[in-house]
Amino acid sequence: MGIGDDIQSEKHQTQKPMVYIVGFTCALAGLLFGLDVGVISGALEFIAKDFGIDIGKQQLIVSAILWGAMCGAVTAGFVSRLLGRKLTLLIAAAVFTIGSLGCALAPTADFLIALRFVLGVAVGMASFTAPLYLSEISPQSVRGAMISLYQLMITIGILSAFLSDTYLSAYADIGNSVGGHWRWMLGVIALPAMLMFIGFIFLPESPRWLLLKNRVKSAQQVLTKIRSSRSEVAREMAEIEKDISLKQKGFHLLFHNSNFRRAVFLGISLQVIQQLTGINVIMYYAPKIFKLAGFATTIEQMWGTVIVGLINVLATFIAITLVDRIGRKPIMYIGFTVMGISMTMVGVVFKLGLDGSQALSYVAIGFLLLFIIGFAMSAGPIVWVICTEIYPIDGRDLGITISTATNWIVNGLVAVTFLTMLKHLGSGNTFLIYGGVEFLFIIFFLFFVPETKGVTLEKIASNLMNGKRLRDIGR
Ligand code: BGC
Repeated sequence: MGIGDDIQSEKHQTQKPMVYIVGFTCALAGLLFGLDVGVISGALEFIAKDFGIDIGKQQLIVSAILWGAMCGAVTAGFVSRLLGRKLTLLIAAAVFTIGSLGCALAPTADFLIALRFVLGVAVGMASFTAPLYLSEISPQSVRGAMISLYQLMITIGILSAFLSDTYLSAYADIGNSVGGHWRWMLGVIALPAMLMFIGFIFLPESPRWLLLKNRVKSAQQVLTKIRSSRSEVAREMAEIEKDISLKQKGFHLLFHNSNFRRAVFLGISLQVIQQLTGINVIMYYAPKIFKLAGFATTIEQMWGTVIVGLINVLATFIAITLVDRIGRKPIMYIGFTVMGISMTMVGVVFKLGLDGSQALSYVAIGFLLLFIIGFAMSAGPIVWVICTEIYPIDGRDLGITISTATNWIVNGLVAVTFLTMLKHLGSGNTFLIYGGVEFLFIIFFLFFVPETKGVTLEKIASNLMNGKRLRDIGR
């Protein structure tokens, strides 16, 4: 599933356009992830007013989807093995579509929390299945770009949700009804989910899964559509069959193999780190942060949020273009330094107090945007990429399940603690804490994270299983 595998040997091979169409369609699943990350920031204020709920309940509304996603990610390995990757994605898109409409009609806050949990299950399933599917249909030389495409879709999903929230809160003619605003915001994302469902109908099933189910002929047909030559099809059929003969024995490895556990440790740590950067503090609570920074009107706050979303999309291209050229680690060092400095500066400005100064408000927001650039060019895509590269083939399903679930758990923890941190520690200290930990993570990369650019997955796995230090398994 890695980016670097046999890049040299396949670099100059032209791929059939079909594989890109299929990859793009599947990457759309990232939109589900992004839409629901993004939609709540603009809706929360309206929901809180409409239901008259305290910050405890507000945090639950934000985080219910994350606990659901964790359950979805944990069960997706099993479901996608049983029903196939395609059907799992279809179910996720269908549940998301129906769930979004349900959220729009929710009569009480508790009902909304329960439905957002169900939506979360769909998103969690998609967040496991889509990168897996992408890795199974991509030729090795474009795998990295394909997985980054998934992250790009997440960011586009977030931006689209921010835009639609902004339109609905500031421009659409919904009268003065507070409820109307948030109900439209949550309901309208059923539309892209439905389009995604239609797109998924045309996806071919993953050849790897077909072979897993002994459907040799169908697997061959799919590969013929997405590979450029017959010899490539034959070679890949043989490779997959060899892989499949190695039964998944993740749990056995987890309990009996300390080398495998080291990879699990790395995957968990990277996802914890990605979330503890504090990215979702901004994604979920952006309008609130703009308010804290002195932007008083809803329109200012919403447009500020849209700019955050746009920068998040654009800066992701930095990673896409650099990941296979300068490697994962240099990008992580640069990104985390940028994040550390900018988050600390946001904290300092808040701590000094804005005292109504417009200039300081802009300084705070400038650093906040710089933080987004730091994240989108590094931790955003690269963590997902490395997490698909470090597990040996016979433990990959379990490894990816554990790291994906970790992403959602810590995501939830950040979401449920942010407002409380603001209340008890103050905004300045909260951001200073987030800023401080970014620097600690750089030390972690130095000691534990391998450079995996241009290395075959087999080589990474054999280095790992032979006991090489984690930071050296890419050499
Ligand atoms: C993270 C999400 C985050 C998003 C922001 C993803 O890689 O896993 O939690 O909201 O990036 O773009």
